[in-house]
Amino acid sequence: MKKVIAVLPGDGIGKEVTQGAVEVLKAVANCFNHQFEFVYSSMGGEAIDQYGVPLPAETLTICKDSDAVLMGAVGGPKWDHVPPSVRPEKGLLQLRKALDVYANLRPISVHAPLADASPLKKEYVTDVDFVIVRELTGGLYFGTPSERREENGEQTVVDTLHYTRAEMKRIIKTAFDIALLRRKKVTSVDKANVLESSRVWREVAEEVAKEYPEVELEHMLVDAAAMELIRCPKRFDVMVTENMFGDILSDEASMITGSLGMLPSASLSVKGPSLYEPAHGSAPDIAGQGKANPIAAILSAAMLLRHSFGLKEEAAVIEKAVEQALGAGYRTADLYAEGQSVISTSKMTQEIVDAIIDDSAIS
Ligand code: NAD
Ligand code: IPM
Ligand code: MN
Repeated sequence: MKKVIAVLPGDGIGKEVTQGAVEVLKAVANCFNHQFEFVYSSMGGEAIDQYGVPLPAETLTICKDSDAVLMGAVGGPKWDHVPPSVRPEKGLLQLRKALDVYANLRPISVHAPLADASPLKKEYVTDVDFVIVRELTGGLYFGTPSERREENGEQTVVDTLHYTRAEMKRIIKTAFDIALLRRKKVTSVDKANVLESSRVWREVAEEVAKEYPEVELEHMLVDAAAMELIRCPKRFDVMVTENMFGDILSDEASMITGSLGMLPSASLSVKGPSLYEPAHGSAPDIAGQGKANPIAAILSAAMLLRHSFGLKEEAAVIEKAVEQALGAGYRTADLYAEGQSVISTSKMTQEIVDAIIDDSAIS
């Protein structure tokens, strides 16, 4: 198979973990006789420094012309005080909107060797396996106005939460479609006791549920959902929610798996290239030190192979290699527990690459 992958490493550990994901994709290409062309492009703080904007037109063109986009992370203290319209994070939002990647899948599954790595007790996290389906191109992140202004002589600020029913429907349908292939349960998370947008979200969820009689739908308020994620994470199968709730709940849920550095994501579009990005950020506190866990980025690459290229076997080989490296006791610092060896980003990448090569030599 011949494919073009746009690569946007971004800032901070984005660069380090993306290098790991690309090395893994190269190993897969070698072992399975695929040709992946990697086209690197600038984005985020790095692009602000070079071009004055976080998403240069050329970067967007490269992404649109690709078969899939692999991103690292953007942002950092250096750009925390640039005007909001050109912040690194704004570039990421522009990219998501331009690619129309409205469905952000964040799978939370506990790798058996990491059952001890979560701050939650082992019996609560063993066998946890659910997916957060986060709406990614609407809601508070994109509503206008979003501005500071004077009202009656007072300094005021407004952010706008905006959704069309159609935007709600397509993401909720995505969640139900995913549930059909899993344990057939959707938890729709909202704040319907306060927000009108959530009351409409609930109505839309009920409408969609009628089309899927074999799938169970439950509604849960977001504050209760935050609690349930800790009390009994095993109860979830597919959780669907709007943009900002999904952002917050997914970082929380990542700790069930041991670390934010374990959480991959796929941001899917139906009409063009999709975007694959670890859920974590640029981690300025550890950037440049070789400490970052590359597994979220590497598992995002596996999601890329599965969702964009239909390469199920290759994706499974990457996931198995990650399991093997963890099973052998290798840990980056974020996963450290006594008795295990802490290794660097590049060593963890190498362990995973070696496991892929060994695996394909056997089969
Ligand atoms: P962060 O996700 O960068 O880091 C939060 C904590 O998790 C830090 O202690 C960090 O060291 C740790 N961590 C994150 N990823 C890790 C990994 N792979 N391995 C080991 N430890 C890891 O969040 P933050 O510190 O709140 O934000 C830093 C910057 O990143 C901000 O500018 C923010 O806007 C940006 N950000 C970008 C993205 C993205 O590009 N998709 C996502 C989240 C945050
Ligand atoms: C994420 C990040 C982004 C988001 C930021 C950097 C815009 O936190 O991908 O989870 O909130 O979507
Ligand atoms: Mn986030």
